[in-house]
This record gives sequence, C-alpha cells and structure tokens, in this order.
Amino acid sequence: MRNKKVLAAGLAFCISLQGTVSCGQEEETEAVRVQVGVACYDQNDIFISELLECIEEEIGLLEEDSFQAAVTVRDGGGSQKIQNDQVEELIDAGCDVLCVNLVDRADPSEIIDLARENEVPIIFFNREPVAEDMLQWEKLYYVGADAKQSGVMQGELAADAVKENPQIDRNKDGKIQYVVLEGEPGHQDAIIRTENAVETLRNQGVELEKLSYGIANWNRAQAENRMLQMIGQHQNQIEMVLANNDAMALGALDAYKKLNRTESALPVFFGIDGTKEGLGAIQEKKMAGTVYNDKEGQAKAIAKLAKALVTGRGMENIEFENEKYIYLPYAKVTIDNVEEYIEK
Ligand code: BGC
Ligand code: CA
Repeated sequence: MRNKKVLAAGLAFCISLQGTVSCGQEEETEAVRVQVGVACYDQNDIFISELLECIEEEIGLLEEDSFQAAVTVRDGGGSQKIQNDQVEELIDAGCDVLCVNLVDRADPSEIIDLARENEVPIIFFNREPVAEDMLQWEKLYYVGADAKQSGVMQGELAADAVKENPQIDRNKDGKIQYVVLEGEPGHQDAIIRTENAVETLRNQGVELEKLSYGIANWNRAQAENRMLQMIGQHQNQIEMVLANNDAMALGALDAYKKLNRTESALPVFFGIDGTKEGLGAIQEKKMAGTVYNDKEGQAKAIAKLAKALVTGRGMENIEFENEKYIYLPYAKVTIDNVEEYIEK
C-alpha cells in the first residue's frame, strides 16, 4: 500500500516536471525561469538593507544553465497596507515565490490569503509571524534567528567586559549603572533581547542598577535623541548602554559625540547585528561588543529554500525546525575577532 503511494507520487512528480527535466536524467534544454518577489518592511532599516543585498547576491549565486532567477524588491515603507498592495502586484506580475519581511508581524492574513489563492509559497524572514498564523497554510516558512540567543550573548559579552575592565564601574559602587535602548515594541527581537542580556549579566554575578530605558525603534537618529534625554537626566552616572541593535548603539555614541564628552566619561556600548558600521565601531574600539546577526546565512537559507520550492527539488536537503522554521545561529564579536566578520 505504502509503496503504491510512493510510486504514484513519483509518477506525478515526473509528469509535473515534463518539459524541463525528465525523470532520472537531466535535460540541458529549457531553463527554469523563476520570479522571486521580495517585500520588505522598510528599506531605510540598516540591517534590512544589508540583508536584502545578501539575498539578491545569494539568489544570483544559485543561477545555473537550468535555473534563472529574477528578483524584484518592494519597500513597504512602514505601512502594512502598502505592503499588502505590493504583494498583490508581485503576484499579478507572475512571481513564483514570495519572500516577505512583514511590516506588522501580527497582521499577515491578507498576504497569506493572496498567496494561497494563487498557490505562491511564502518565506517570511526577520519579522516572525505568530505561530498560529504560520499554521494557516502548509506553504509558509520562516527564516530568521533566535532572539533569546542574541540577548544571552550580549549579556555574556558585557559580563566579560565588566570582569576584564573594573574601571567600567566608574563610581566604584560595585554596581553597573545601565540604560537600555529598545527596538520596536511588539517585535520578537526587542523585549527578549533586553530580558536575556540583563538576566545573563545577573547570572554571571554582575550587580546592576537600571537607570532608564528608551524605545528607539531600531533607528539611529531616534536613539541619539533618547540618549540625549537620558544623559540629561543622569549626566555621567551611566556606565553601560545595552542596545537591541547596532544602529541604536551608534545613535547613543552620536549623542555623546554631540555633547563632546571626553573618553573617560563614556559608558561602554553593546549592540547586536554586526552591520558594516557596527563592525567599524568595534574595530575603532568605540563599541565594546556586538552579536553577529548572520545575514549571509539567512540569505543563503532563503535562496536555497526559494529555489527548492519553485523547482520542487532539494527540499529533502533542507533542515527545518517544526517543519517550517530555519534559525541561523548568532555569534559574539569583539575587537579580538572583528576582522573575520569585516571580511564577510
Ligand atoms: C535587527 C534590527 C532590525 C530589525 C528589523 C532585527 O533582527 O537586529 O537591526 O532593525 O530586525 O526587523
Ligand atoms: Ca557603578
């Protein structure tokens, strides 16, 4: 019974691929031409713009005589409504697979409905839909990273720094006075990063005193403003800045620069992402550490999955968690290994 089913499935597979590849033997003629539609939440986001570059590159690298891909990128500019329209246009233009970086990760239903009606699989990335929505259709996937791991790693980096450099505790009260710069409320990476960074520092025996926090929505200019306010309130009491991403850590640095604070009055700064500028700040010793958000690995996974979904080949070589999820590991970056990441 089981064998019969397998045979039937195999036959159906051969028939569906007729004209491109015949069963068992590759045909050199006729390439598969696919259109990949990429919809992002906001192209001004530094990490997203770097990730998009990698996605285009990785899809390009998968091209061969028998597989040609054209990538179209659309920018939702921070509006879910605009993104819904863009996805509809991408589908109308004949796209074969969608890669979607949702504006509102809690509101994917319209996009899922459109995709399902047109049988276009979706790979969500970076902004993770809630688990229930991922069950709306079997052709929904997610590529990203585990927020908790990035928080733990940031906490470990900060704990190591405190142990190696006692002068970080500038007022010598045995505690580290810190502030947090948080990403967008509701984003899977914001609160979880903060909680785990702080908890890890505590578990490692570092005494902490939270002075304040500011929400800066992943954005450098907003982080500069929030940081200026916090410096206004706490002057040079701030000994550590934990930022949910590099852009905001750099914004905090901008605030100190604007106020012309001398080096000895600066806190230590920690980010997450390892963006080009973030890595540059590590190299210049302006930022003490960051956690690498593996955009190359994520892009590779997205490209490989997209190709497998449209060609129907290679799915068995992809490892999923819970059948639909791919999480790439984070990595700690300091002055000791930053060169490795700059070369990427
Ligand atoms: C990154 C942020 C980015 C956000 C966008 C996060 O994973 O660390 O830099 O702004 O994703 O969704
Ligand atoms: Ca202190």
